[in-house]
Amino acid sequence: MKIVHKSKLTSREVDRLFRWREHVFSPLAPGIEMSALTHHYVMLDDDEAVAHAQCEVRVLERQGKRRPILGIGAVVVRPEYQGKKLGHELLKHLHGLLGSSFDAQAAWLFCMPELIRYYELSGYREVKSPVCFEQSTGLVLCPWVSMIYERPPGLFEDNSEIIIRSKPW
Ligand SMILES: CC(C)(COP(=O)(O)OP(=O)(O)OC[C@H]1O[C@@H](n2cnc3c(N)ncnc32)[C@H](O)[C@@H]1OP(=O)(O)O)[C@@H](O)C(=O)NCCC(=O)NCCS
Repeated sequence: MKIVHKSKLTSREVDRLFRWREHVFSPLAPGIEMSALTHHYVMLDDDEAVAHAQCEVRVLERQGKRRPILGIGAVVVRPEYQGKKLGHELLKHLHGLLGSSFDAQAAWLFCMPELIRYYELSGYREVKSPVCFEQSTGLVLCPWVSMIYERPPGLFEDNSEIIIRSKPW
């Protein structure tokens, strides 16, 4: 297995990675304007895409202070490759790029409540503060669970409101 960076997936990769459960990501975004993350990290088994995550640096604001974070999304492992912790391996790879390839000290993702435990196993914790993000109509309260991975821990620990200065991903 190897992990490669891509700025665009081929149509075969999109098909292989996402065709099996197109609905997986749609319940996350009922009527919410999303923004695409431009960096794709693909795990290959003999040149065949088996797992994927997408990321890009975004900006968080808390008490008027802005910080870069690495927004992560579209984490997916093909069904026949699940159960081998490939998702964790991919996330670990992205975390290793914090502070080097990406100028951010924390990673952030949105998920459904049933995946909180999964991301905790990868070192994330649930954000308890209210979180808002941008829409064309203005700021909107985030309806999903937000999870953060931060090194060192505690960077974002107080419970004051967080504004994500972009559309969600
Ligand atoms: C979520 C997903 C990426 C996990 O795949 P994976 O990396 O192969 O995960 P594994 O099967 O190796 O599981 C690792 C651990 O997470 C747990 N886990 C995996 N999927 C889970 C789920 N949906 N809910 C709760 N726990 C889960 C496993 O029980 C396992 O725990 P253990 O180490 O204590 O045994 C994969 O199920 C998937 O692609 N799902 C559909 C897309 C999706 O929902 N992506 C997330 C969008 S936010």
